[in-house]
Amino acid sequence: MRMILVGPPGVGKGTQAALLEQRTGAKPLSSGVIFRSEIEAETDLGQLAKSYIDRGELVPNGITIQMMVKRLRAPEIRAKGFVLDGFPRTVRQAEALDEELAKEDIRLHRVASLEVSDEVVVARLGGRIGCTKCGEIYHQVTKPPKREGLCDKCNSPLFVRKDDQPETIRERLRVFHEQTAPVVDYYEASGLLKRINGDQPTETVYSEIVAGLTG
Ligand code: AP5
Ligand code: MG
Repeated sequence: MRMILVGPPGVGKGTQAALLEQRTGAKPLSSGVIFRSEIEAETDLGQLAKSYIDRGELVPNGITIQMMVKRLRAPEIRAKGFVLDGFPRTVRQAEALDEELAKEDIRLHRVASLEVSDEVVVARLGGRIGCTKCGEIYHQVTKPPKREGLCDKCNSPLFVRKDDQPETIRERLRVFHEQTAPVVDYYEASGLLKRINGDQPTETVYSEIVAGLTG
């Protein structure tokens, strides 16, 4: 399976990508997760990306496209398929992805646009906590870990993302409406788009994504 999850910050892209991997085997490729691991490893790319991410801005297209194309060419991704999360996020990135897939003769099955209001985003990101090691995603109110501050799956400490501060969340939303909303129109025009109400329980959203793959 080869698909894209597009949607605003906090809509549940990472949550759904993890479920899709567990249940279908398709590998999640999240540009945000990759950038954060580069920051953690203190690479040159990480340092550059950090200056944008901390402000809620997009990392420049050239750097992002090069990074994602390299990941898409990995043998495991070729073999198992992919769930792109957070990429493409500009029309230029979507065009670059099309060029790459056409070059390799790979067909995209679906683009799921997860949709929620800005108010829901603010409530979700205000309570998000994530695992420092395995990346499992929790929420203080709607999905709390069994033991406070520790991951249910791997026992590692949980953390709050630096870009989950109210001011940065507002900027990320502004950037989404300005630069990523046109990506939804781009895929609507190509006939690959399926719109899904992201303001429903996680399992309902999941079922609608899976139904959209065939319908
Ligand atoms: P990225 O890491 O992609 O962040 P984002 O798009 O802002 O999305 P989030 O990861 O915040 O939210 P999500 O949709 O994954 O939601 P989640 O599942 O965690 O990007 C970060 C930054 O990197 C960008 O701002 C940019 O600077 C840079 N970047 C990344 N990609 C780029 C690109 N292509 N080009 C340029 N720059 C790029 O869920 C959120 C919370 O809600 C959790 O607490 C979860 O438990 C809860 N939740 C999830 N689903 C539900 C539900 N159905 N009901 C109730 N609660 C739910
Ligand atoms: Mg995410």
